[in-house]
Amino acid sequence: MYPFLFINQRSMGNILIFIFFSIIVSSYGYDPLDPFGNITVTWDFLSDNGETVDVRVSIYNFQLFRHVEEPGWKLSWDWRGNEVIWAMLGAEAIEQGNCTRFRGQQKPHCCKKHPVIIDLMPGTPYNMQSANCCKGGVLTSLTQNQAKHGASFQMNYMKSSFSVSGSSSNFSMPENFTLGIPGYSCGTPFEVPPTKFTKDGYRWQQVLETWNVTCIYSQFLASPSPKCCVSLSAFYNSTIVPCPVCSCNCQGLPGAHCVNSDKTSVLQMPQANEPPKPVIRCSHHMCPIRVHWHVKQSYKEYWRVKITITNLNFVKNYSQWNLVVLHPNLRSLTQVFSFNYQALPIYGNLNDTGMFWGLPYYNDLLLTHGENGNVQTEILLHKDQGEFTFKEGWTFPRKISFNGDECVMPSPDDYPRLPNTAHIATKSSLILLYSMLLFAMLF
Ligand SMILES: *[C@@H]1O[C@H](CO)[C@@H](O)[C@H](O)[C@H]1NC(C)=O
Ligand SMILES: *[C@@H]1O[C@H](CO)[C@@H](O)[C@H](O)[C@H]1NC(C)=O
Ligand SMILES: *[C@@H]1O[C@H](CO)[C@@H](O)[C@H](O)[C@H]1NC(C)=O
Ligand SMILES: *[C@@H]1O[C@H](CO)[C@@H](O)[C@H](O)[C@H]1NC(C)=O
Ligand SMILES: *[C@@H]1O[C@H](CO)[C@@H](O)[C@H](O)[C@H]1NC(C)=O
Ligand SMILES: *[C@@H]1O[C@H](CO)[C@@H](O)[C@H](O)[C@H]1NC(C)=O
Ligand SMILES: *[C@@H]1O[C@H](CO)[C@@H](O)[C@H](O)[C@H]1NC(C)=O
Repeated sequence: MYPFLFINQRSMGNILIFIFFSIIVSSYGYDPLDPFGNITVTWDFLSDNGETVDVRVSIYNFQLFRHVEEPGWKLSWDWRGNEVIWAMLGAEAIEQGNCTRFRGQQKPHCCKKHPVIIDLMPGTPYNMQSANCCKGGVLTSLTQNQAKHGASFQMNYMKSSFSVSGSSSNFSMPENFTLGIPGYSCGTPFEVPPTKFTKDGYRWQQVLETWNVTCIYSQFLASPSPKCCVSLSAFYNSTIVPCPVCSCNCQGLPGAHCVNSDKTSVLQMPQANEPPKPVIRCSHHMCPIRVHWHVKQSYKEYWRVKITITNLNFVKNYSQWNLVVLHPNLRSLTQVFSFNYQALPIYGNLNDTGMFWGLPYYNDLLLTHGENGNVQTEILLHKDQGEFTFKEGWTFPRKISFNGDECVMPSPDDYPRLPNTAHIATKSSLILLYSMLLFAMLF
């Protein structure tokens, strides 16, 4: 008999899929849980006034679970010539730049070759607004709130006084777009069919020209070290399997700062438009977020899991947080208490991946560690015939990510074990052997 037949085939499949996709993730910044996720910048040329042009710029978050949180996006680009922005509604450039070539009374809004635009806050005076603007740079994910996943602003800019080559369009489209959010990189603008719009629902008009820019997230670009880890426990075993040591960082390494509970050492000068540097509670894993999965109870037809998310960062409230979980039994999820849930349509309809997020005004804000920040839920799952088992760690999640960043899981060897089950001592070495064989075949 071949040695790897000892291992449950399904879990082997999952492990291999996991290893395979982990490799893709780390090398290409592609997320198998959200393969088509991106942020699109759409640049609509609304009117050509001879000297100047009116454009509307929109930013849409087309990601299933990753969102843009405070301090929000900071959109920038390179003008191809010496264009200057005369006026802007619904957003503003953070620097006016050198406008000395304009001697008149009225000065342009921004004369920089590389303007950096930030969103306005909600509640901005009406005369500074444009349609669908002013969200403080925050964009929700597609799953959490489809109404707030996009934002727009309008501007009037003066064309370059010299013509710029390399443009197939009547307008000169700027290039080198960036979002100013760690982890995102944007491609080259490309022309798409002009955006159509309607004012009354009957007659459709269209803008002169539309260009899209696609920006993709890479967890590795955002931060090479993880930001979250998973601990496990089960009712049938008193062992709590903690987050792996050094999941996110190691205490004592250069650059690894942490505090125990002393709030006075936490104070830092807030910097406009910059997220506060994390101040993490000291632990062996050094992660700002810990997710605990507890297999709580077993009934005849169902089993129950308690999920607790703990914030160990002293200086950050996570608003609109979300958790993506991969577990084969999620396709038989029966009830979710005190979180929202939606299955995610991925992996060729295996229905094993879903997203949890907080209930508005109840637990959608995960408070700082100093405020005892944690949120929790219990879920009830149906025991599917022929699949459900407490053995081999089947009841534990295959993968968890918090706010789109993958969490570090304990090694399957350490999972809480059922009492009196013989442990196949060589399991992990067999998995290693098997996956090495697979790699040898693949590459
Ligand atoms: C361009 O962006 C818009 C969002 O503004 C999107 O609906 C459209 O599908 C995009 N077009 C292409 C070809 O990517
Ligand atoms: C865009 O970036 C590239 C590389 O940094 C640079 O060579 C190019 O001049 C930039 N484009 C403009 C219009 O500044
Ligand atoms: C501003 O631009 C003008 C030319 O338009 C130049 O003469 C001047 O030195 C610039 N000033 C600064 C501070 O860069
Ligand atoms: C430029 O605009 C003219 C009409 O104003 C149009 O006929 C022509 O197709 C446009 N060219 C491009 C490259 O879009
Ligand atoms: C977190 O939220 C609480 C309650 O809204 C607030 O009192 C506190 O100042 C916030 N802390 C930070 C660091 O934003
Ligand atoms: C996933 O769910 C869809 C819709 O509920 C269903 O049609 C499909 O058969 C399910 N796939 C699996 C593998 O269970
Ligand atoms: C609980 O699980 C741990 C870790 O797998 C194992 O070492 C221990 O023997 C288990 N306890 C019992 C009572 O089976």
